[in-house]
Amino acid sequence: MKDIKLHGKTFEPYITKEQIEAAIRKLSHEIENYAKDETIVFVVVLKGSFIFSADLAKHYQKNATFEFYRLKSYEGTQSSGEVKVLVDIDDQLIEGKKVVVLEDIVDTGNTLIKIIEELGRKNPADLKIASLFFKPTAYTKNRPIDFVGMEIPNEFIVGYGLDYDELGRNLPIIYKLKEEKKEKMIDFILFGPPGAGKGTQAKILKDKLGLTYIATGDLFRHHIKNQTPLGKKAKAYIDKGDFVPDEITIDMIKEIISDPNVKGIIFDGFPRTVRQAESLDKLMAEKGLIIDALIALNVPEERLIKRLLNRGATGERSDDNEETIKHRLDLYHQKTEPVKDYYKKQNKFYEVNGVGDIEEVNQRLLDVINSIQLREEV
Ligand code: IMP
Ligand code: MG
Repeated sequence: MKDIKLHGKTFEPYITKEQIEAAIRKLSHEIENYAKDETIVFVVVLKGSFIFSADLAKHYQKNATFEFYRLKSYEGTQSSGEVKVLVDIDDQLIEGKKVVVLEDIVDTGNTLIKIIEELGRKNPADLKIASLFFKPTAYTKNRPIDFVGMEIPNEFIVGYGLDYDELGRNLPIIYKLKEEKKEKMIDFILFGPPGAGKGTQAKILKDKLGLTYIATGDLFRHHIKNQTPLGKKAKAYIDKGDFVPDEITIDMIKEIISDPNVKGIIFDGFPRTVRQAESLDKLMAEKGLIIDALIALNVPEERLIKRLLNRGATGERSDDNEETIKHRLDLYHQKTEPVKDYYKKQNKFYEVNGVGDIEEVNQRLLDVINSIQLREEV
C-alpha cells in the first residue's frame, strides 16, 4: 500500500480492511445484545458515518430502522466547539424508541455532546452511542462511549467515510497523516581554487550528514559520458579549460534540486562567477530554498599546483596538466574569487584552513557547518 496525497498533505496506510471489519462485527454483536427483542433506531451521523453504517447494517441481524442526522461544526476563527444541526430528524421517530447513534469518530467529544443534547430533547426511551473510532486521549467529556469499535491514538485519520477537508472519504481503508519530520540541513557552497580538496571533503560531508552533493564537474562528466545533448555542448568548453555556459549548468542543477527528499545540498564547483551566483540564488528561490553559506577552503597556491600535478600524473582527470592548471587558476582569480564578496555582502561567508590531513580539515568544516546550523535554528 502506498502513501497518498490529499490537499498537498501525505497520508500513510494505518488501519486495514480486516481490522475495520473486525471492529464492525464486534460493534454489531454488542448492539444486538443490547437490543434484545426491540427494534433499534440507528441515527447515522453524516457525512462521515455513511460507509461505516452501511457496513454495520449488513452485519446487523435484528430489526432496525435508519435515520440520518447531519451536524456541522463551526469553523470560524475561534474554535468555540459550537455545532449546528443541518439535517434534523422528526421528533416522533425518536420518541419512546431505543436509539443508537452511529458516529464515525469521537475526538474531543464536542459533536457527541451536542447530539446527545439535541436527540435527548426528543425523548427517546434510551440513547446509546456507537463510534467506530475513539480517541481517548483527545476526549474531553465525562460521558462514556457505549460501544467503541476501536480505540486509536490521537492521530488525524482519513478514509472509510472520514475526510480531510472533504477528500479521502472514498478510501477503502484508513490512512493517517504522515508526520513530516524532514530535518532541514543547510544548503551551502564549498568554495576554493582547483586542488583545494573540495571534492574530497564534500564526499565525506555528504556521507556524514546525509546531504546531496552537486559537483558540477561530476555532473558535466556524467552528461558527457552518457553523451546527453547537454553533455555534448559542455564537452567542447571543458576540453579548452573554459567555463561551461550557465544555462547548461543551471539545467543540470535544476533536475537535482527539484527532488523534495533532498535534506540539504553541497555545491562544489558552482557558482564560479558572480553571474552564476545570481542565477543560483534565483533558481533556489524558485524552489523555496536559499543558499545558507559559502565555505571557502584556503590553500596556498604552490600547494595547489603540486596537488593538481600529482592528480594529473595518476590520470584521474584529463584536464590536470601544467597548461590547463595555470589557465584554471587564472580564471579562478579573475572570475571566481569575486563570488566570495557576493556572499560576504549577504553575511554568508566562512573560511576554513584547507591545509592538513583529510580528517583534520573535515572536522574544521563540520565545526563551521554546525555553528551555522545552530544559528539558523535559533
Ligand atoms: P469531536 O467533536 O472533536 O469529537 O470531532 C467531531 C468530528 O471531527 C468528527 O465527527 C469528524 O468529522 C471530525 N474528526 C475528528 N477527528 C478526525 C480525524 O482524525 N479525521 C477526520 N475527521 C475527524
Ligand atoms: Mg469531518
